[in-house]
Amino acid sequence: MGKGLFITATGTDIGKTYITALLAKHLRDNGFDCGYYKAALSGAVETENGLIPGDAQLVKETAGLTDSLDSMVSYVYKNAYSPHLAAQLEDNPLEMTVVKSDYEKACEKHDFVLMEGSGGIVCPIRYDEKCKIFLEDIIKALSLPTIIVADAGLGTINSVVLTVEYMKNRNIPVKGIILNNYNPNSEIHNDNVKMVQKITSIPVLSLVKNGDKDIDIDTKLFTSFFI
Ligand SMILES: Nc1ncnc2c1ncn2[C@@H]1O[C@H](COP(=O)(O)OP(=O)(O)OP(=O)(O)O)[C@@H](O)[C@H]1O
Ligand SMILES: [Mg+2]
Repeated sequence: MGKGLFITATGTDIGKTYITALLAKHLRDNGFDCGYYKAALSGAVETENGLIPGDAQLVKETAGLTDSLDSMVSYVYKNAYSPHLAAQLEDNPLEMTVVKSDYEKACEKHDFVLMEGSGGIVCPIRYDEKCKIFLEDIIKALSLPTIIVADAGLGTINSVVLTVEYMKNRNIPVKGIILNNYNPNSEIHNDNVKMVQKITSIPVLSLVKNGDKDIDIDTKLFTSFFI
């Protein structure tokens, strides 16, 4: 049975997919077997072959994964809304049993499974009269440790610290932080690297620049985070 790690971020569009793709590629380049899973994706591209989950497609292409897109994402919504709202409008509410079973299938197939979140850490996935499921309920149901992706620029101290504090409060383990769109010549970015580590006591594992095609990360440390 494979092990998993959850990738969240300080918000939507911060680079979870981009960095998950680089992490999956890094694992494969270093001889590890790796899969990708996402419980709910909204804003899927509509084609004549149905809805295409763009995140899964990018990770699949970047890392050369061979699984079908269908098996990588359990709930694919057309509307680019928060999953709870898309689920209401498209009458396709998420069932935790389906997520657990699909995640377990990914773990049966792969040694390491990278699971991408939706949006930031506070994300309602299903919110109706019958049931209310937040992203954190899924992380806890699967007992996953996490990594936070954040932007390297101005504002990140606030968004990283708030995310970490929220997660600590919910007893969700955070193993590390990856800063995206890092500019080595920026005084702000370099100070952010120091300050987020000082304030949160969580290590910054990697700094990813715009357009990077590989990620520089300690493979042994990174693989040790999976549970
Ligand atoms: N380091 C980078 N270099 C170049 N492009 C990037 C980088 N990081 C992110 N992007 C681009 O920024 C956009 C948003 O990134 P991405 O899709 O990875 O965010 P996300 O956190 O996964 O969003 P969502 O919450 O929708 O899943 C994408 O078009 C992505 O290709
Ligand atoms: Mg994404």
